Amino acid sequence: MKNIPCAFSPKEKKYLLNSKECWLNILKGGMRAGKNVVNSFAFCLALETSPSYVNLIAGVDQAAARINIMECDGFGVLNYFHGRIRPGKFEGKDAYYVQAKVGERVIIVAGGRKVSDAAYIKGYTIAVAYITESNECHPDFIEMVLTRTWSFGNRRRVFMDLNPKAPNHWFNEKVINRHLDEQRKDSTYGFNFDTVTMADNMSLSNETIRSILKTIQRGSIEWDRNVLGLDKVAEGLCFSPFAKHIEDFLIDKDKFDKNSIVNIAVGVDWGGNGSQHTFVCRGYTSNYREVIFLASEIVIAKGLTPDELYKKYVEFVQKMNTEYCLHLNPNGTRIRLKISTFADSAEQTLINGLRVASKRAYLNNEIYNAAKRPINDRIRLINLLCGQHRVKLIKQDTKSLQDAWSTAVWDSKEAELGNDVRLDNGTSDIDTCDAAEYTIERDLEKLQAMG
Ligand SMILES: Nc1ncnc2c1ncn2[C@@H]1O[C@H](COP(=O)(O)OP(=O)(O)OP(=O)(O)O)[C@@H](O)[C@H]1O
Ligand SMILES: [Mg+2]
Repeated sequence: MKNIPCAFSPKEKKYLLNSKECWLNILKGGMRAGKNVVNSFAFCLALETSPSYVNLIAGVDQAAARINIMECDGFGVLNYFHGRIRPGKFEGKDAYYVQAKVGERVIIVAGGRKVSDAAYIKGYTIAVAYITESNECHPDFIEMVLTRTWSFGNRRRVFMDLNPKAPNHWFNEKVINRHLDEQRKDSTYGFNFDTVTMADNMSLSNETIRSILKTIQRGSIEWDRNVLGLDKVAEGLCFSPFAKHIEDFLIDKDKFDKNSIVNIAVGVDWGGNGSQHTFVCRGYTSNYREVIFLASEIVIAKGLTPDELYKKYVEFVQKMNTEYCLHLNPNGTRIRLKISTFADSAEQTLINGLRVASKRAYLNNEIYNAAKRPINDRIRLINLLCGQHRVKLIKQDTKSLQDAWSTAVWDSKEAELGNDVRLDNGTSDIDTCDAAEYTIERDLEKLQAMG
């Protein structure tokens, strides 16, 4: 071993000790709690004496398995078996060969997010398996892994880790609660389960913990899940930090110093049947300190020709150009900010149309495809920024964005199934939410780090 892990907490020690006796070992909890470090270590100990030649590591995809289990920030399987492990292929599949105490062992690397992933490991008998972020994997994949280990009875070792989701998420019901029931009925059943938080990770200094906590909105669903490690339903308003105190986020156009803006972007979401086209413009102050939403506009899609749409876009950008792009420095020099547009990539023809129209109008802008990062990451970012009071909206020109953020809600039907999905049935203006998110999603890491 190159890196020696730091001391395990009493809870982690108990989990490691129990894993010697138990066939199913699950660590659930908040972020940076040490779940991967502890489970990777337990997996290696089990692999040393694995009764089968074939063993398994998995995550939502192969990369997740490699990063969380093989690498694990220097404390993973590669570290433990340093000098005794080499990558290779096993029956055409990505794998690692390990010289364990009892001889050579192979570890197949698998992805488990898709329903088709179950077939990848069908037919193997596996004794030691570790599935990271297991509640993000497909239920059929989890079932398949458990089935593939049956023949080893209580000599098999299955490890899993997961972050909390909704209380009624399928993983809680089908896996954790089911095996907890069995364990209650028979104390020798072999289910080792524990919940952990950052506080159980002895390697984190108070300063590190404080800097992690700064990136999460206190009282939000992420706080409950990622910090406290609790299951929590996503219900009610998506942007509650904003919607509950709208006035706090509005600034008067006349009182706003446009020279504080150093970067400007426009987000475009395309409407279609029943929905609308939306434009949102935002500015950043220096160092990603503040995000100022300058204007938002809705363009009714019905009956509008593409040319009419391009004209509306050109007018919107021209207005932003005139109002916010020309800055006079105190020394008398002038700078003109260039506008970047991020448009929903689903409509390449319309994007090309915007490019042509922009050129013809001599607009000072560049048009890119929106990154379209996961919606929940975008929502989390906005809530974080609102929680840190780093978001402002120009009161007079962002009416549609104010309405959109104060009415967006989580889908209660999906919540019953344990899923976090923003309701998109036409009752709220998701199109404006999307356009606003396209203007900041690419900078998620930088905005977060600035907190
Ligand atoms: N025993 C330990 N010794 C040294 N470092 C540790 C130890 N446990 C955890 N760490 C450090 O803490 C970091 C977080 O641990 P880990 O990745 O296992 O957390 P996690 O619970 O899987 O978090 P997440 O839910 O965010 O994936 C690790 O990258 C590692 O640097
Ligand atoms: Mg992890």
